[in-house]
Amino acid sequence: MTAAPMHLDHLLVGGRVLTCAEPAGAPLVVHDDLVLGVAGGRLAYVGVGVPATAGPTPVVDLGGRLVTPGLVDCHTHAIFAGDRAAEFALRAAGASYLDIAAAGGGIAATTTPTRAASDDQLAASCTARLDRALAGGTTTIEIKSGYDLTCAGEERLLRVVAAVAAARRGRQQVVPTLLCHLIPAERQADRAAYVDELATVLVPAVGRAGLATSIDVYCDQGAFTRAETERLLRAGLAAGLAVRAHVGQFADLGGAELVAGLGGWSIDHVEQIGPAGIAAAAAAGTVAVMLPGACVQLRLPVPPVAALRAAGVAMAVASDLNPGSSYCETLPVQMWLATTHYGLTVDEAWRGVTCHAARALGLRDVGVIATGARADLCVWDAVHPAEVPYRYGAQAPAQVWVAGARVAG
Ligand code: NIG
Ligand code: FE
Repeated sequence: MTAAPMHLDHLLVGGRVLTCAEPAGAPLVVHDDLVLGVAGGRLAYVGVGVPATAGPTPVVDLGGRLVTPGLVDCHTHAIFAGDRAAEFALRAAGASYLDIAAAGGGIAATTTPTRAASDDQLAASCTARLDRALAGGTTTIEIKSGYDLTCAGEERLLRVVAAVAAARRGRQQVVPTLLCHLIPAERQADRAAYVDELATVLVPAVGRAGLATSIDVYCDQGAFTRAETERLLRAGLAAGLAVRAHVGQFADLGGAELVAGLGGWSIDHVEQIGPAGIAAAAAAGTVAVMLPGACVQLRLPVPPVAALRAAGVAMAVASDLNPGSSYCETLPVQMWLATTHYGLTVDEAWRGVTCHAARALGLRDVGVIATGARADLCVWDAVHPAEVPYRYGAQAPAQVWVAGARVAG
């Protein structure tokens, strides 16, 4: 009996393929002999040599270059208006992020221009950021709401994100997250009522409308308390959203234990996290998202990478793209910071922007080169995986493929 013919749209040959599919703890391997077969936007074949059952199929030769999964940026605040360059200058001159925020700057300073911007303006500036991310190899990008802070306004931001996502279909995958970011100044006096409104109005509305896949809460000094965070995350779970949180950027409020206890996808920042939080994340399989750009820019201490590693916590690496602490769209720069400043290995940095980032978003079919995965790929003018973080600031992929089509390079 002859095997059924395999239909493939095209074959990619001649790449040095980093699949990022090795089991946890095993070193990543570069494969010189793997051929990738694309059909219907997915990898229908990943194997050694051209499959015997494939009919005549167009072949693309990748010329001995490094091929990796398309990068996954699992933590961005890419929808906002205005900028905070003046705050950057103040910090460069010695002011602290928390002092600037207490004086009316910080997140609150971005809400004013964001509320004033039209849907079209927000979509246009967000799209320009997504284009820069794509040029840096990001084929899947998470976008959080969080710069309006009213119920109606946060829902509007997520509707704009949905429109942007629809417009980019086939070019870049956008994953929306509802972020409860801060108690706005005008609601400080009745913060309990504000949290109640978020939990009973905004969160269920976002869940019903399918405007986000997860809820994120900024659980930290100057933002939401642990009790408020728990209320909001539980409301998210009830609304069908997965759970994530910004925890321990400035202070350890026990957010990691909370998120892990709720079976959350990720804990993000984690400069301040103790042994109990690390053990809880390890037990729950919650991903720790490293945001080294924000850490360096705010001159914060480095997260306890060695303890996270020893406990077996999966680490992702993301841009934290936002106008305050990390105005950066490109993941290769974050890989450089993660290796150079955080002490991640090159393998950890690659897993951080591929398979572990996908896990932080609850995705299994991106961040990996494997049969059945989306055919999202980066082709680099590089031979060794270390070259990408090593040549910092200079490395952008030579080609980016999304759903089997070449979208850049
Ligand atoms: O992840 N930490 C909270 N949110 C952002 C900063 C947002 C801002 O400063 O505008 C962050 O670093
Ligand atoms: Fe953030």
